[in-house]
Amino acid sequence: MYFMLPREYREAPNDELEARIKTSRERLGHKLCILAHHYQRLEVVAFGDHLGDSYGLAKIAAGKKDAEVIIFCGVHFMAEAADILTGDHQQVYLSNPLAGCPMADMAEIADVMTAWEYLKPFGGEARIMPVSYMNTTADLKAFTGKYGGLICTSSNAPGALRWALEKREKVLFFPDENLGYNTGMKFGLQTEEMVLWDFSREGGGLSAEQIEKARLILWKGHCHVHMIFTVDHIREVRSNYPEVQVVVHPECTPEVVKLADADGSTSYIVEYCRKAPPGSIIAIGTEINLVNRIARTYPDKKIFSLSGNICPVCPNMFRTTLNDLAYVLENYPDLKPIKVPEPIRGEALLALEKMLEIS
Ligand code: 13P
Ligand code: SF4
Repeated sequence: MYFMLPREYREAPNDELEARIKTSRERLGHKLCILAHHYQRLEVVAFGDHLGDSYGLAKIAAGKKDAEVIIFCGVHFMAEAADILTGDHQQVYLSNPLAGCPMADMAEIADVMTAWEYLKPFGGEARIMPVSYMNTTADLKAFTGKYGGLICTSSNAPGALRWALEKREKVLFFPDENLGYNTGMKFGLQTEEMVLWDFSREGGGLSAEQIEKARLILWKGHCHVHMIFTVDHIREVRSNYPEVQVVVHPECTPEVVKLADADGSTSYIVEYCRKAPPGSIIAIGTEINLVNRIARTYPDKKIFSLSGNICPVCPNMFRTTLNDLAYVLENYPDLKPIKVPEPIRGEALLALEKMLEIS
């Protein structure tokens, strides 16, 4: 996809953009809702009507029946989920149309269908429940809904896994192998009960015996931002600050999550830091814009990135600027909203509604 903001918006100074955004917000009043993910830039977060993790924002979108215009400051899968959860009278716009999520793109529907066909002799839908992370395309959410499964986020993954394993013997989990494995460990699964389906290899690179024994089949996918954090980073902060608490996102590797003091969604990390007493030292393993914002919010605590000099920025979340926000607010009637077509929308809605029900 090609997209470039018109020059007027690219070159406007920040104080002018802020004034124009304020004017648009006042003009639109309750018709407008701006949703901002925790990883957004500070100046963008300032204009969010709601700030949250991907679960929280999806829930808000589902409940905002009076907002005719929803502007999502986040990445594409989040805006798609908001569109699926809202009515026909509502239009969802992604403030920067180029903001995607590479992890969501690691589970392409054609590869998913190949895997599903291959797994049919192992019981297919009678024995295997698809569970997909929110970080997936709408067509994978639809596949999940069609075969009886549900969506989860990092804030409700253990509950989603429990729900699925109560209903079927095995779970096929897309697309984050780390979140899947970390959740399986919390659920009490043994290492040998979790296998990795490598979509680039025949039969996922697994033997029939491995598939037969598995309770959790993990799709081979990851977040390049959270892969930055290593066990060495944790050892180093612990040696520099013996009293440090390490809190990480569950998209980090199992080795990192195991050594951390706590792990959870972006909202969990925000709460963890809020509740910590003054003087606390906290090293965070997640995206840098959130870490910096939390550190600014609590100057009485020492809060910093777990990865030291290596900057864990999500380039896609960072795409959204005040320039984008001003542009979409002033031009949305002429812009293309995010629209998930039927029957994908209806099937994906089944899987998203199940998530909201069990959470
Ligand atoms: P949360 O659901 O925790 O906000 O995470 C979304 C995400 O993309 C993390 O990389
Ligand atoms: Fe995707 Fe990772 Fe960015 Fe989250 S941090 S939006 S998972 S690339």
